[in-house]
Amino acid sequence: MSAIRIPELPSTVHPADWTVDQAWASYRPDEHRLWTTLYERQTNLLAGRACDAFLNGLDVLDLHRSGIPDFARINPELQKLTGWTIVAVAGLVPDAVFFEHLANRRFPAGQFLRRPDQIDYLQEPDIFHDVFGHVPMLTDPLFADYMQAYGQGGLRALHRGQLHHLARLYWYTVEFGLLQTDRGLRIYGAGILSSHSESVFALEDPSPNRLGFDLRRVMRTPYRIDDFQQVYFATPSIEALRDVTLRDFGPLYDSLEHCEDVAIEAVLPEDVVLTPGATIQARRAADQ
Ligand code: PHE
Ligand code: FE
Repeated sequence: MSAIRIPELPSTVHPADWTVDQAWASYRPDEHRLWTTLYERQTNLLAGRACDAFLNGLDVLDLHRSGIPDFARINPELQKLTGWTIVAVAGLVPDAVFFEHLANRRFPAGQFLRRPDQIDYLQEPDIFHDVFGHVPMLTDPLFADYMQAYGQGGLRALHRGQLHHLARLYWYTVEFGLLQTDRGLRIYGAGILSSHSESVFALEDPSPNRLGFDLRRVMRTPYRIDDFQQVYFATPSIEALRDVTLRDFGPLYDSLEHCEDVAIEAVLPEDVVLTPGATIQARRAADQ
């Protein structure tokens, strides 16, 4: 997740890139057990819900083996697959630092694990969200390219003052993205994959709209960070997502300057509605 709040720089943080030592040996036994609980709860839920790329990535990296994963063990495997590595950070990092890491195929992951009373929800990305949620997708070559391109695009957007638009793309893809498959919608967004309740909600709850992914539409749509999403966007493939984001966003940013945002729960005439949310259903019923 990109920065919402910039924490104070702890003294052990490497000043240039905000990384810290993962200090894997210092995780306590109860923390390893909590990781295992979280891991088992999510994997039971995600068969048939997460996309194949994610499930394959989980298998290949064997994130379960030693409780909380040791980055020193995972990194050689991940690097061999797609050239990505994981670096530990203490919490959220400034946007420019975050983008610089992504642009160099380094994924910054929170070093700490949530407390047991935060098992279902916490605001800052911890190691479970970052490593369980994000890292398996980084084993997919197309997604790996997309994430690096996002980092490069982030640095450009930052200089152009367009982060508010680009951040929506991250939100509705990397964090809350759905994928269209022959077997129905599947999850690839880490914000969903690391959440027990949203993994069910995102696919099965009748209230949110599920729409076909459209780059410009996504950039016009604000998001909420304090509740389940009321709109999800589903891409036909990760390749399509990568391809549509290869183009220069400059003209798109310019055109968005004179364009209004779309309300989160709104549906536009040009939207491809995959499953209509409860609001649309109620409106349709009223029209009949
Ligand atoms: N093509 C985008 C640009 O010109 C960069 C980008 C790629 C952004 C992929 C997000 C995802 O800024
Ligand atoms: Fe995240």
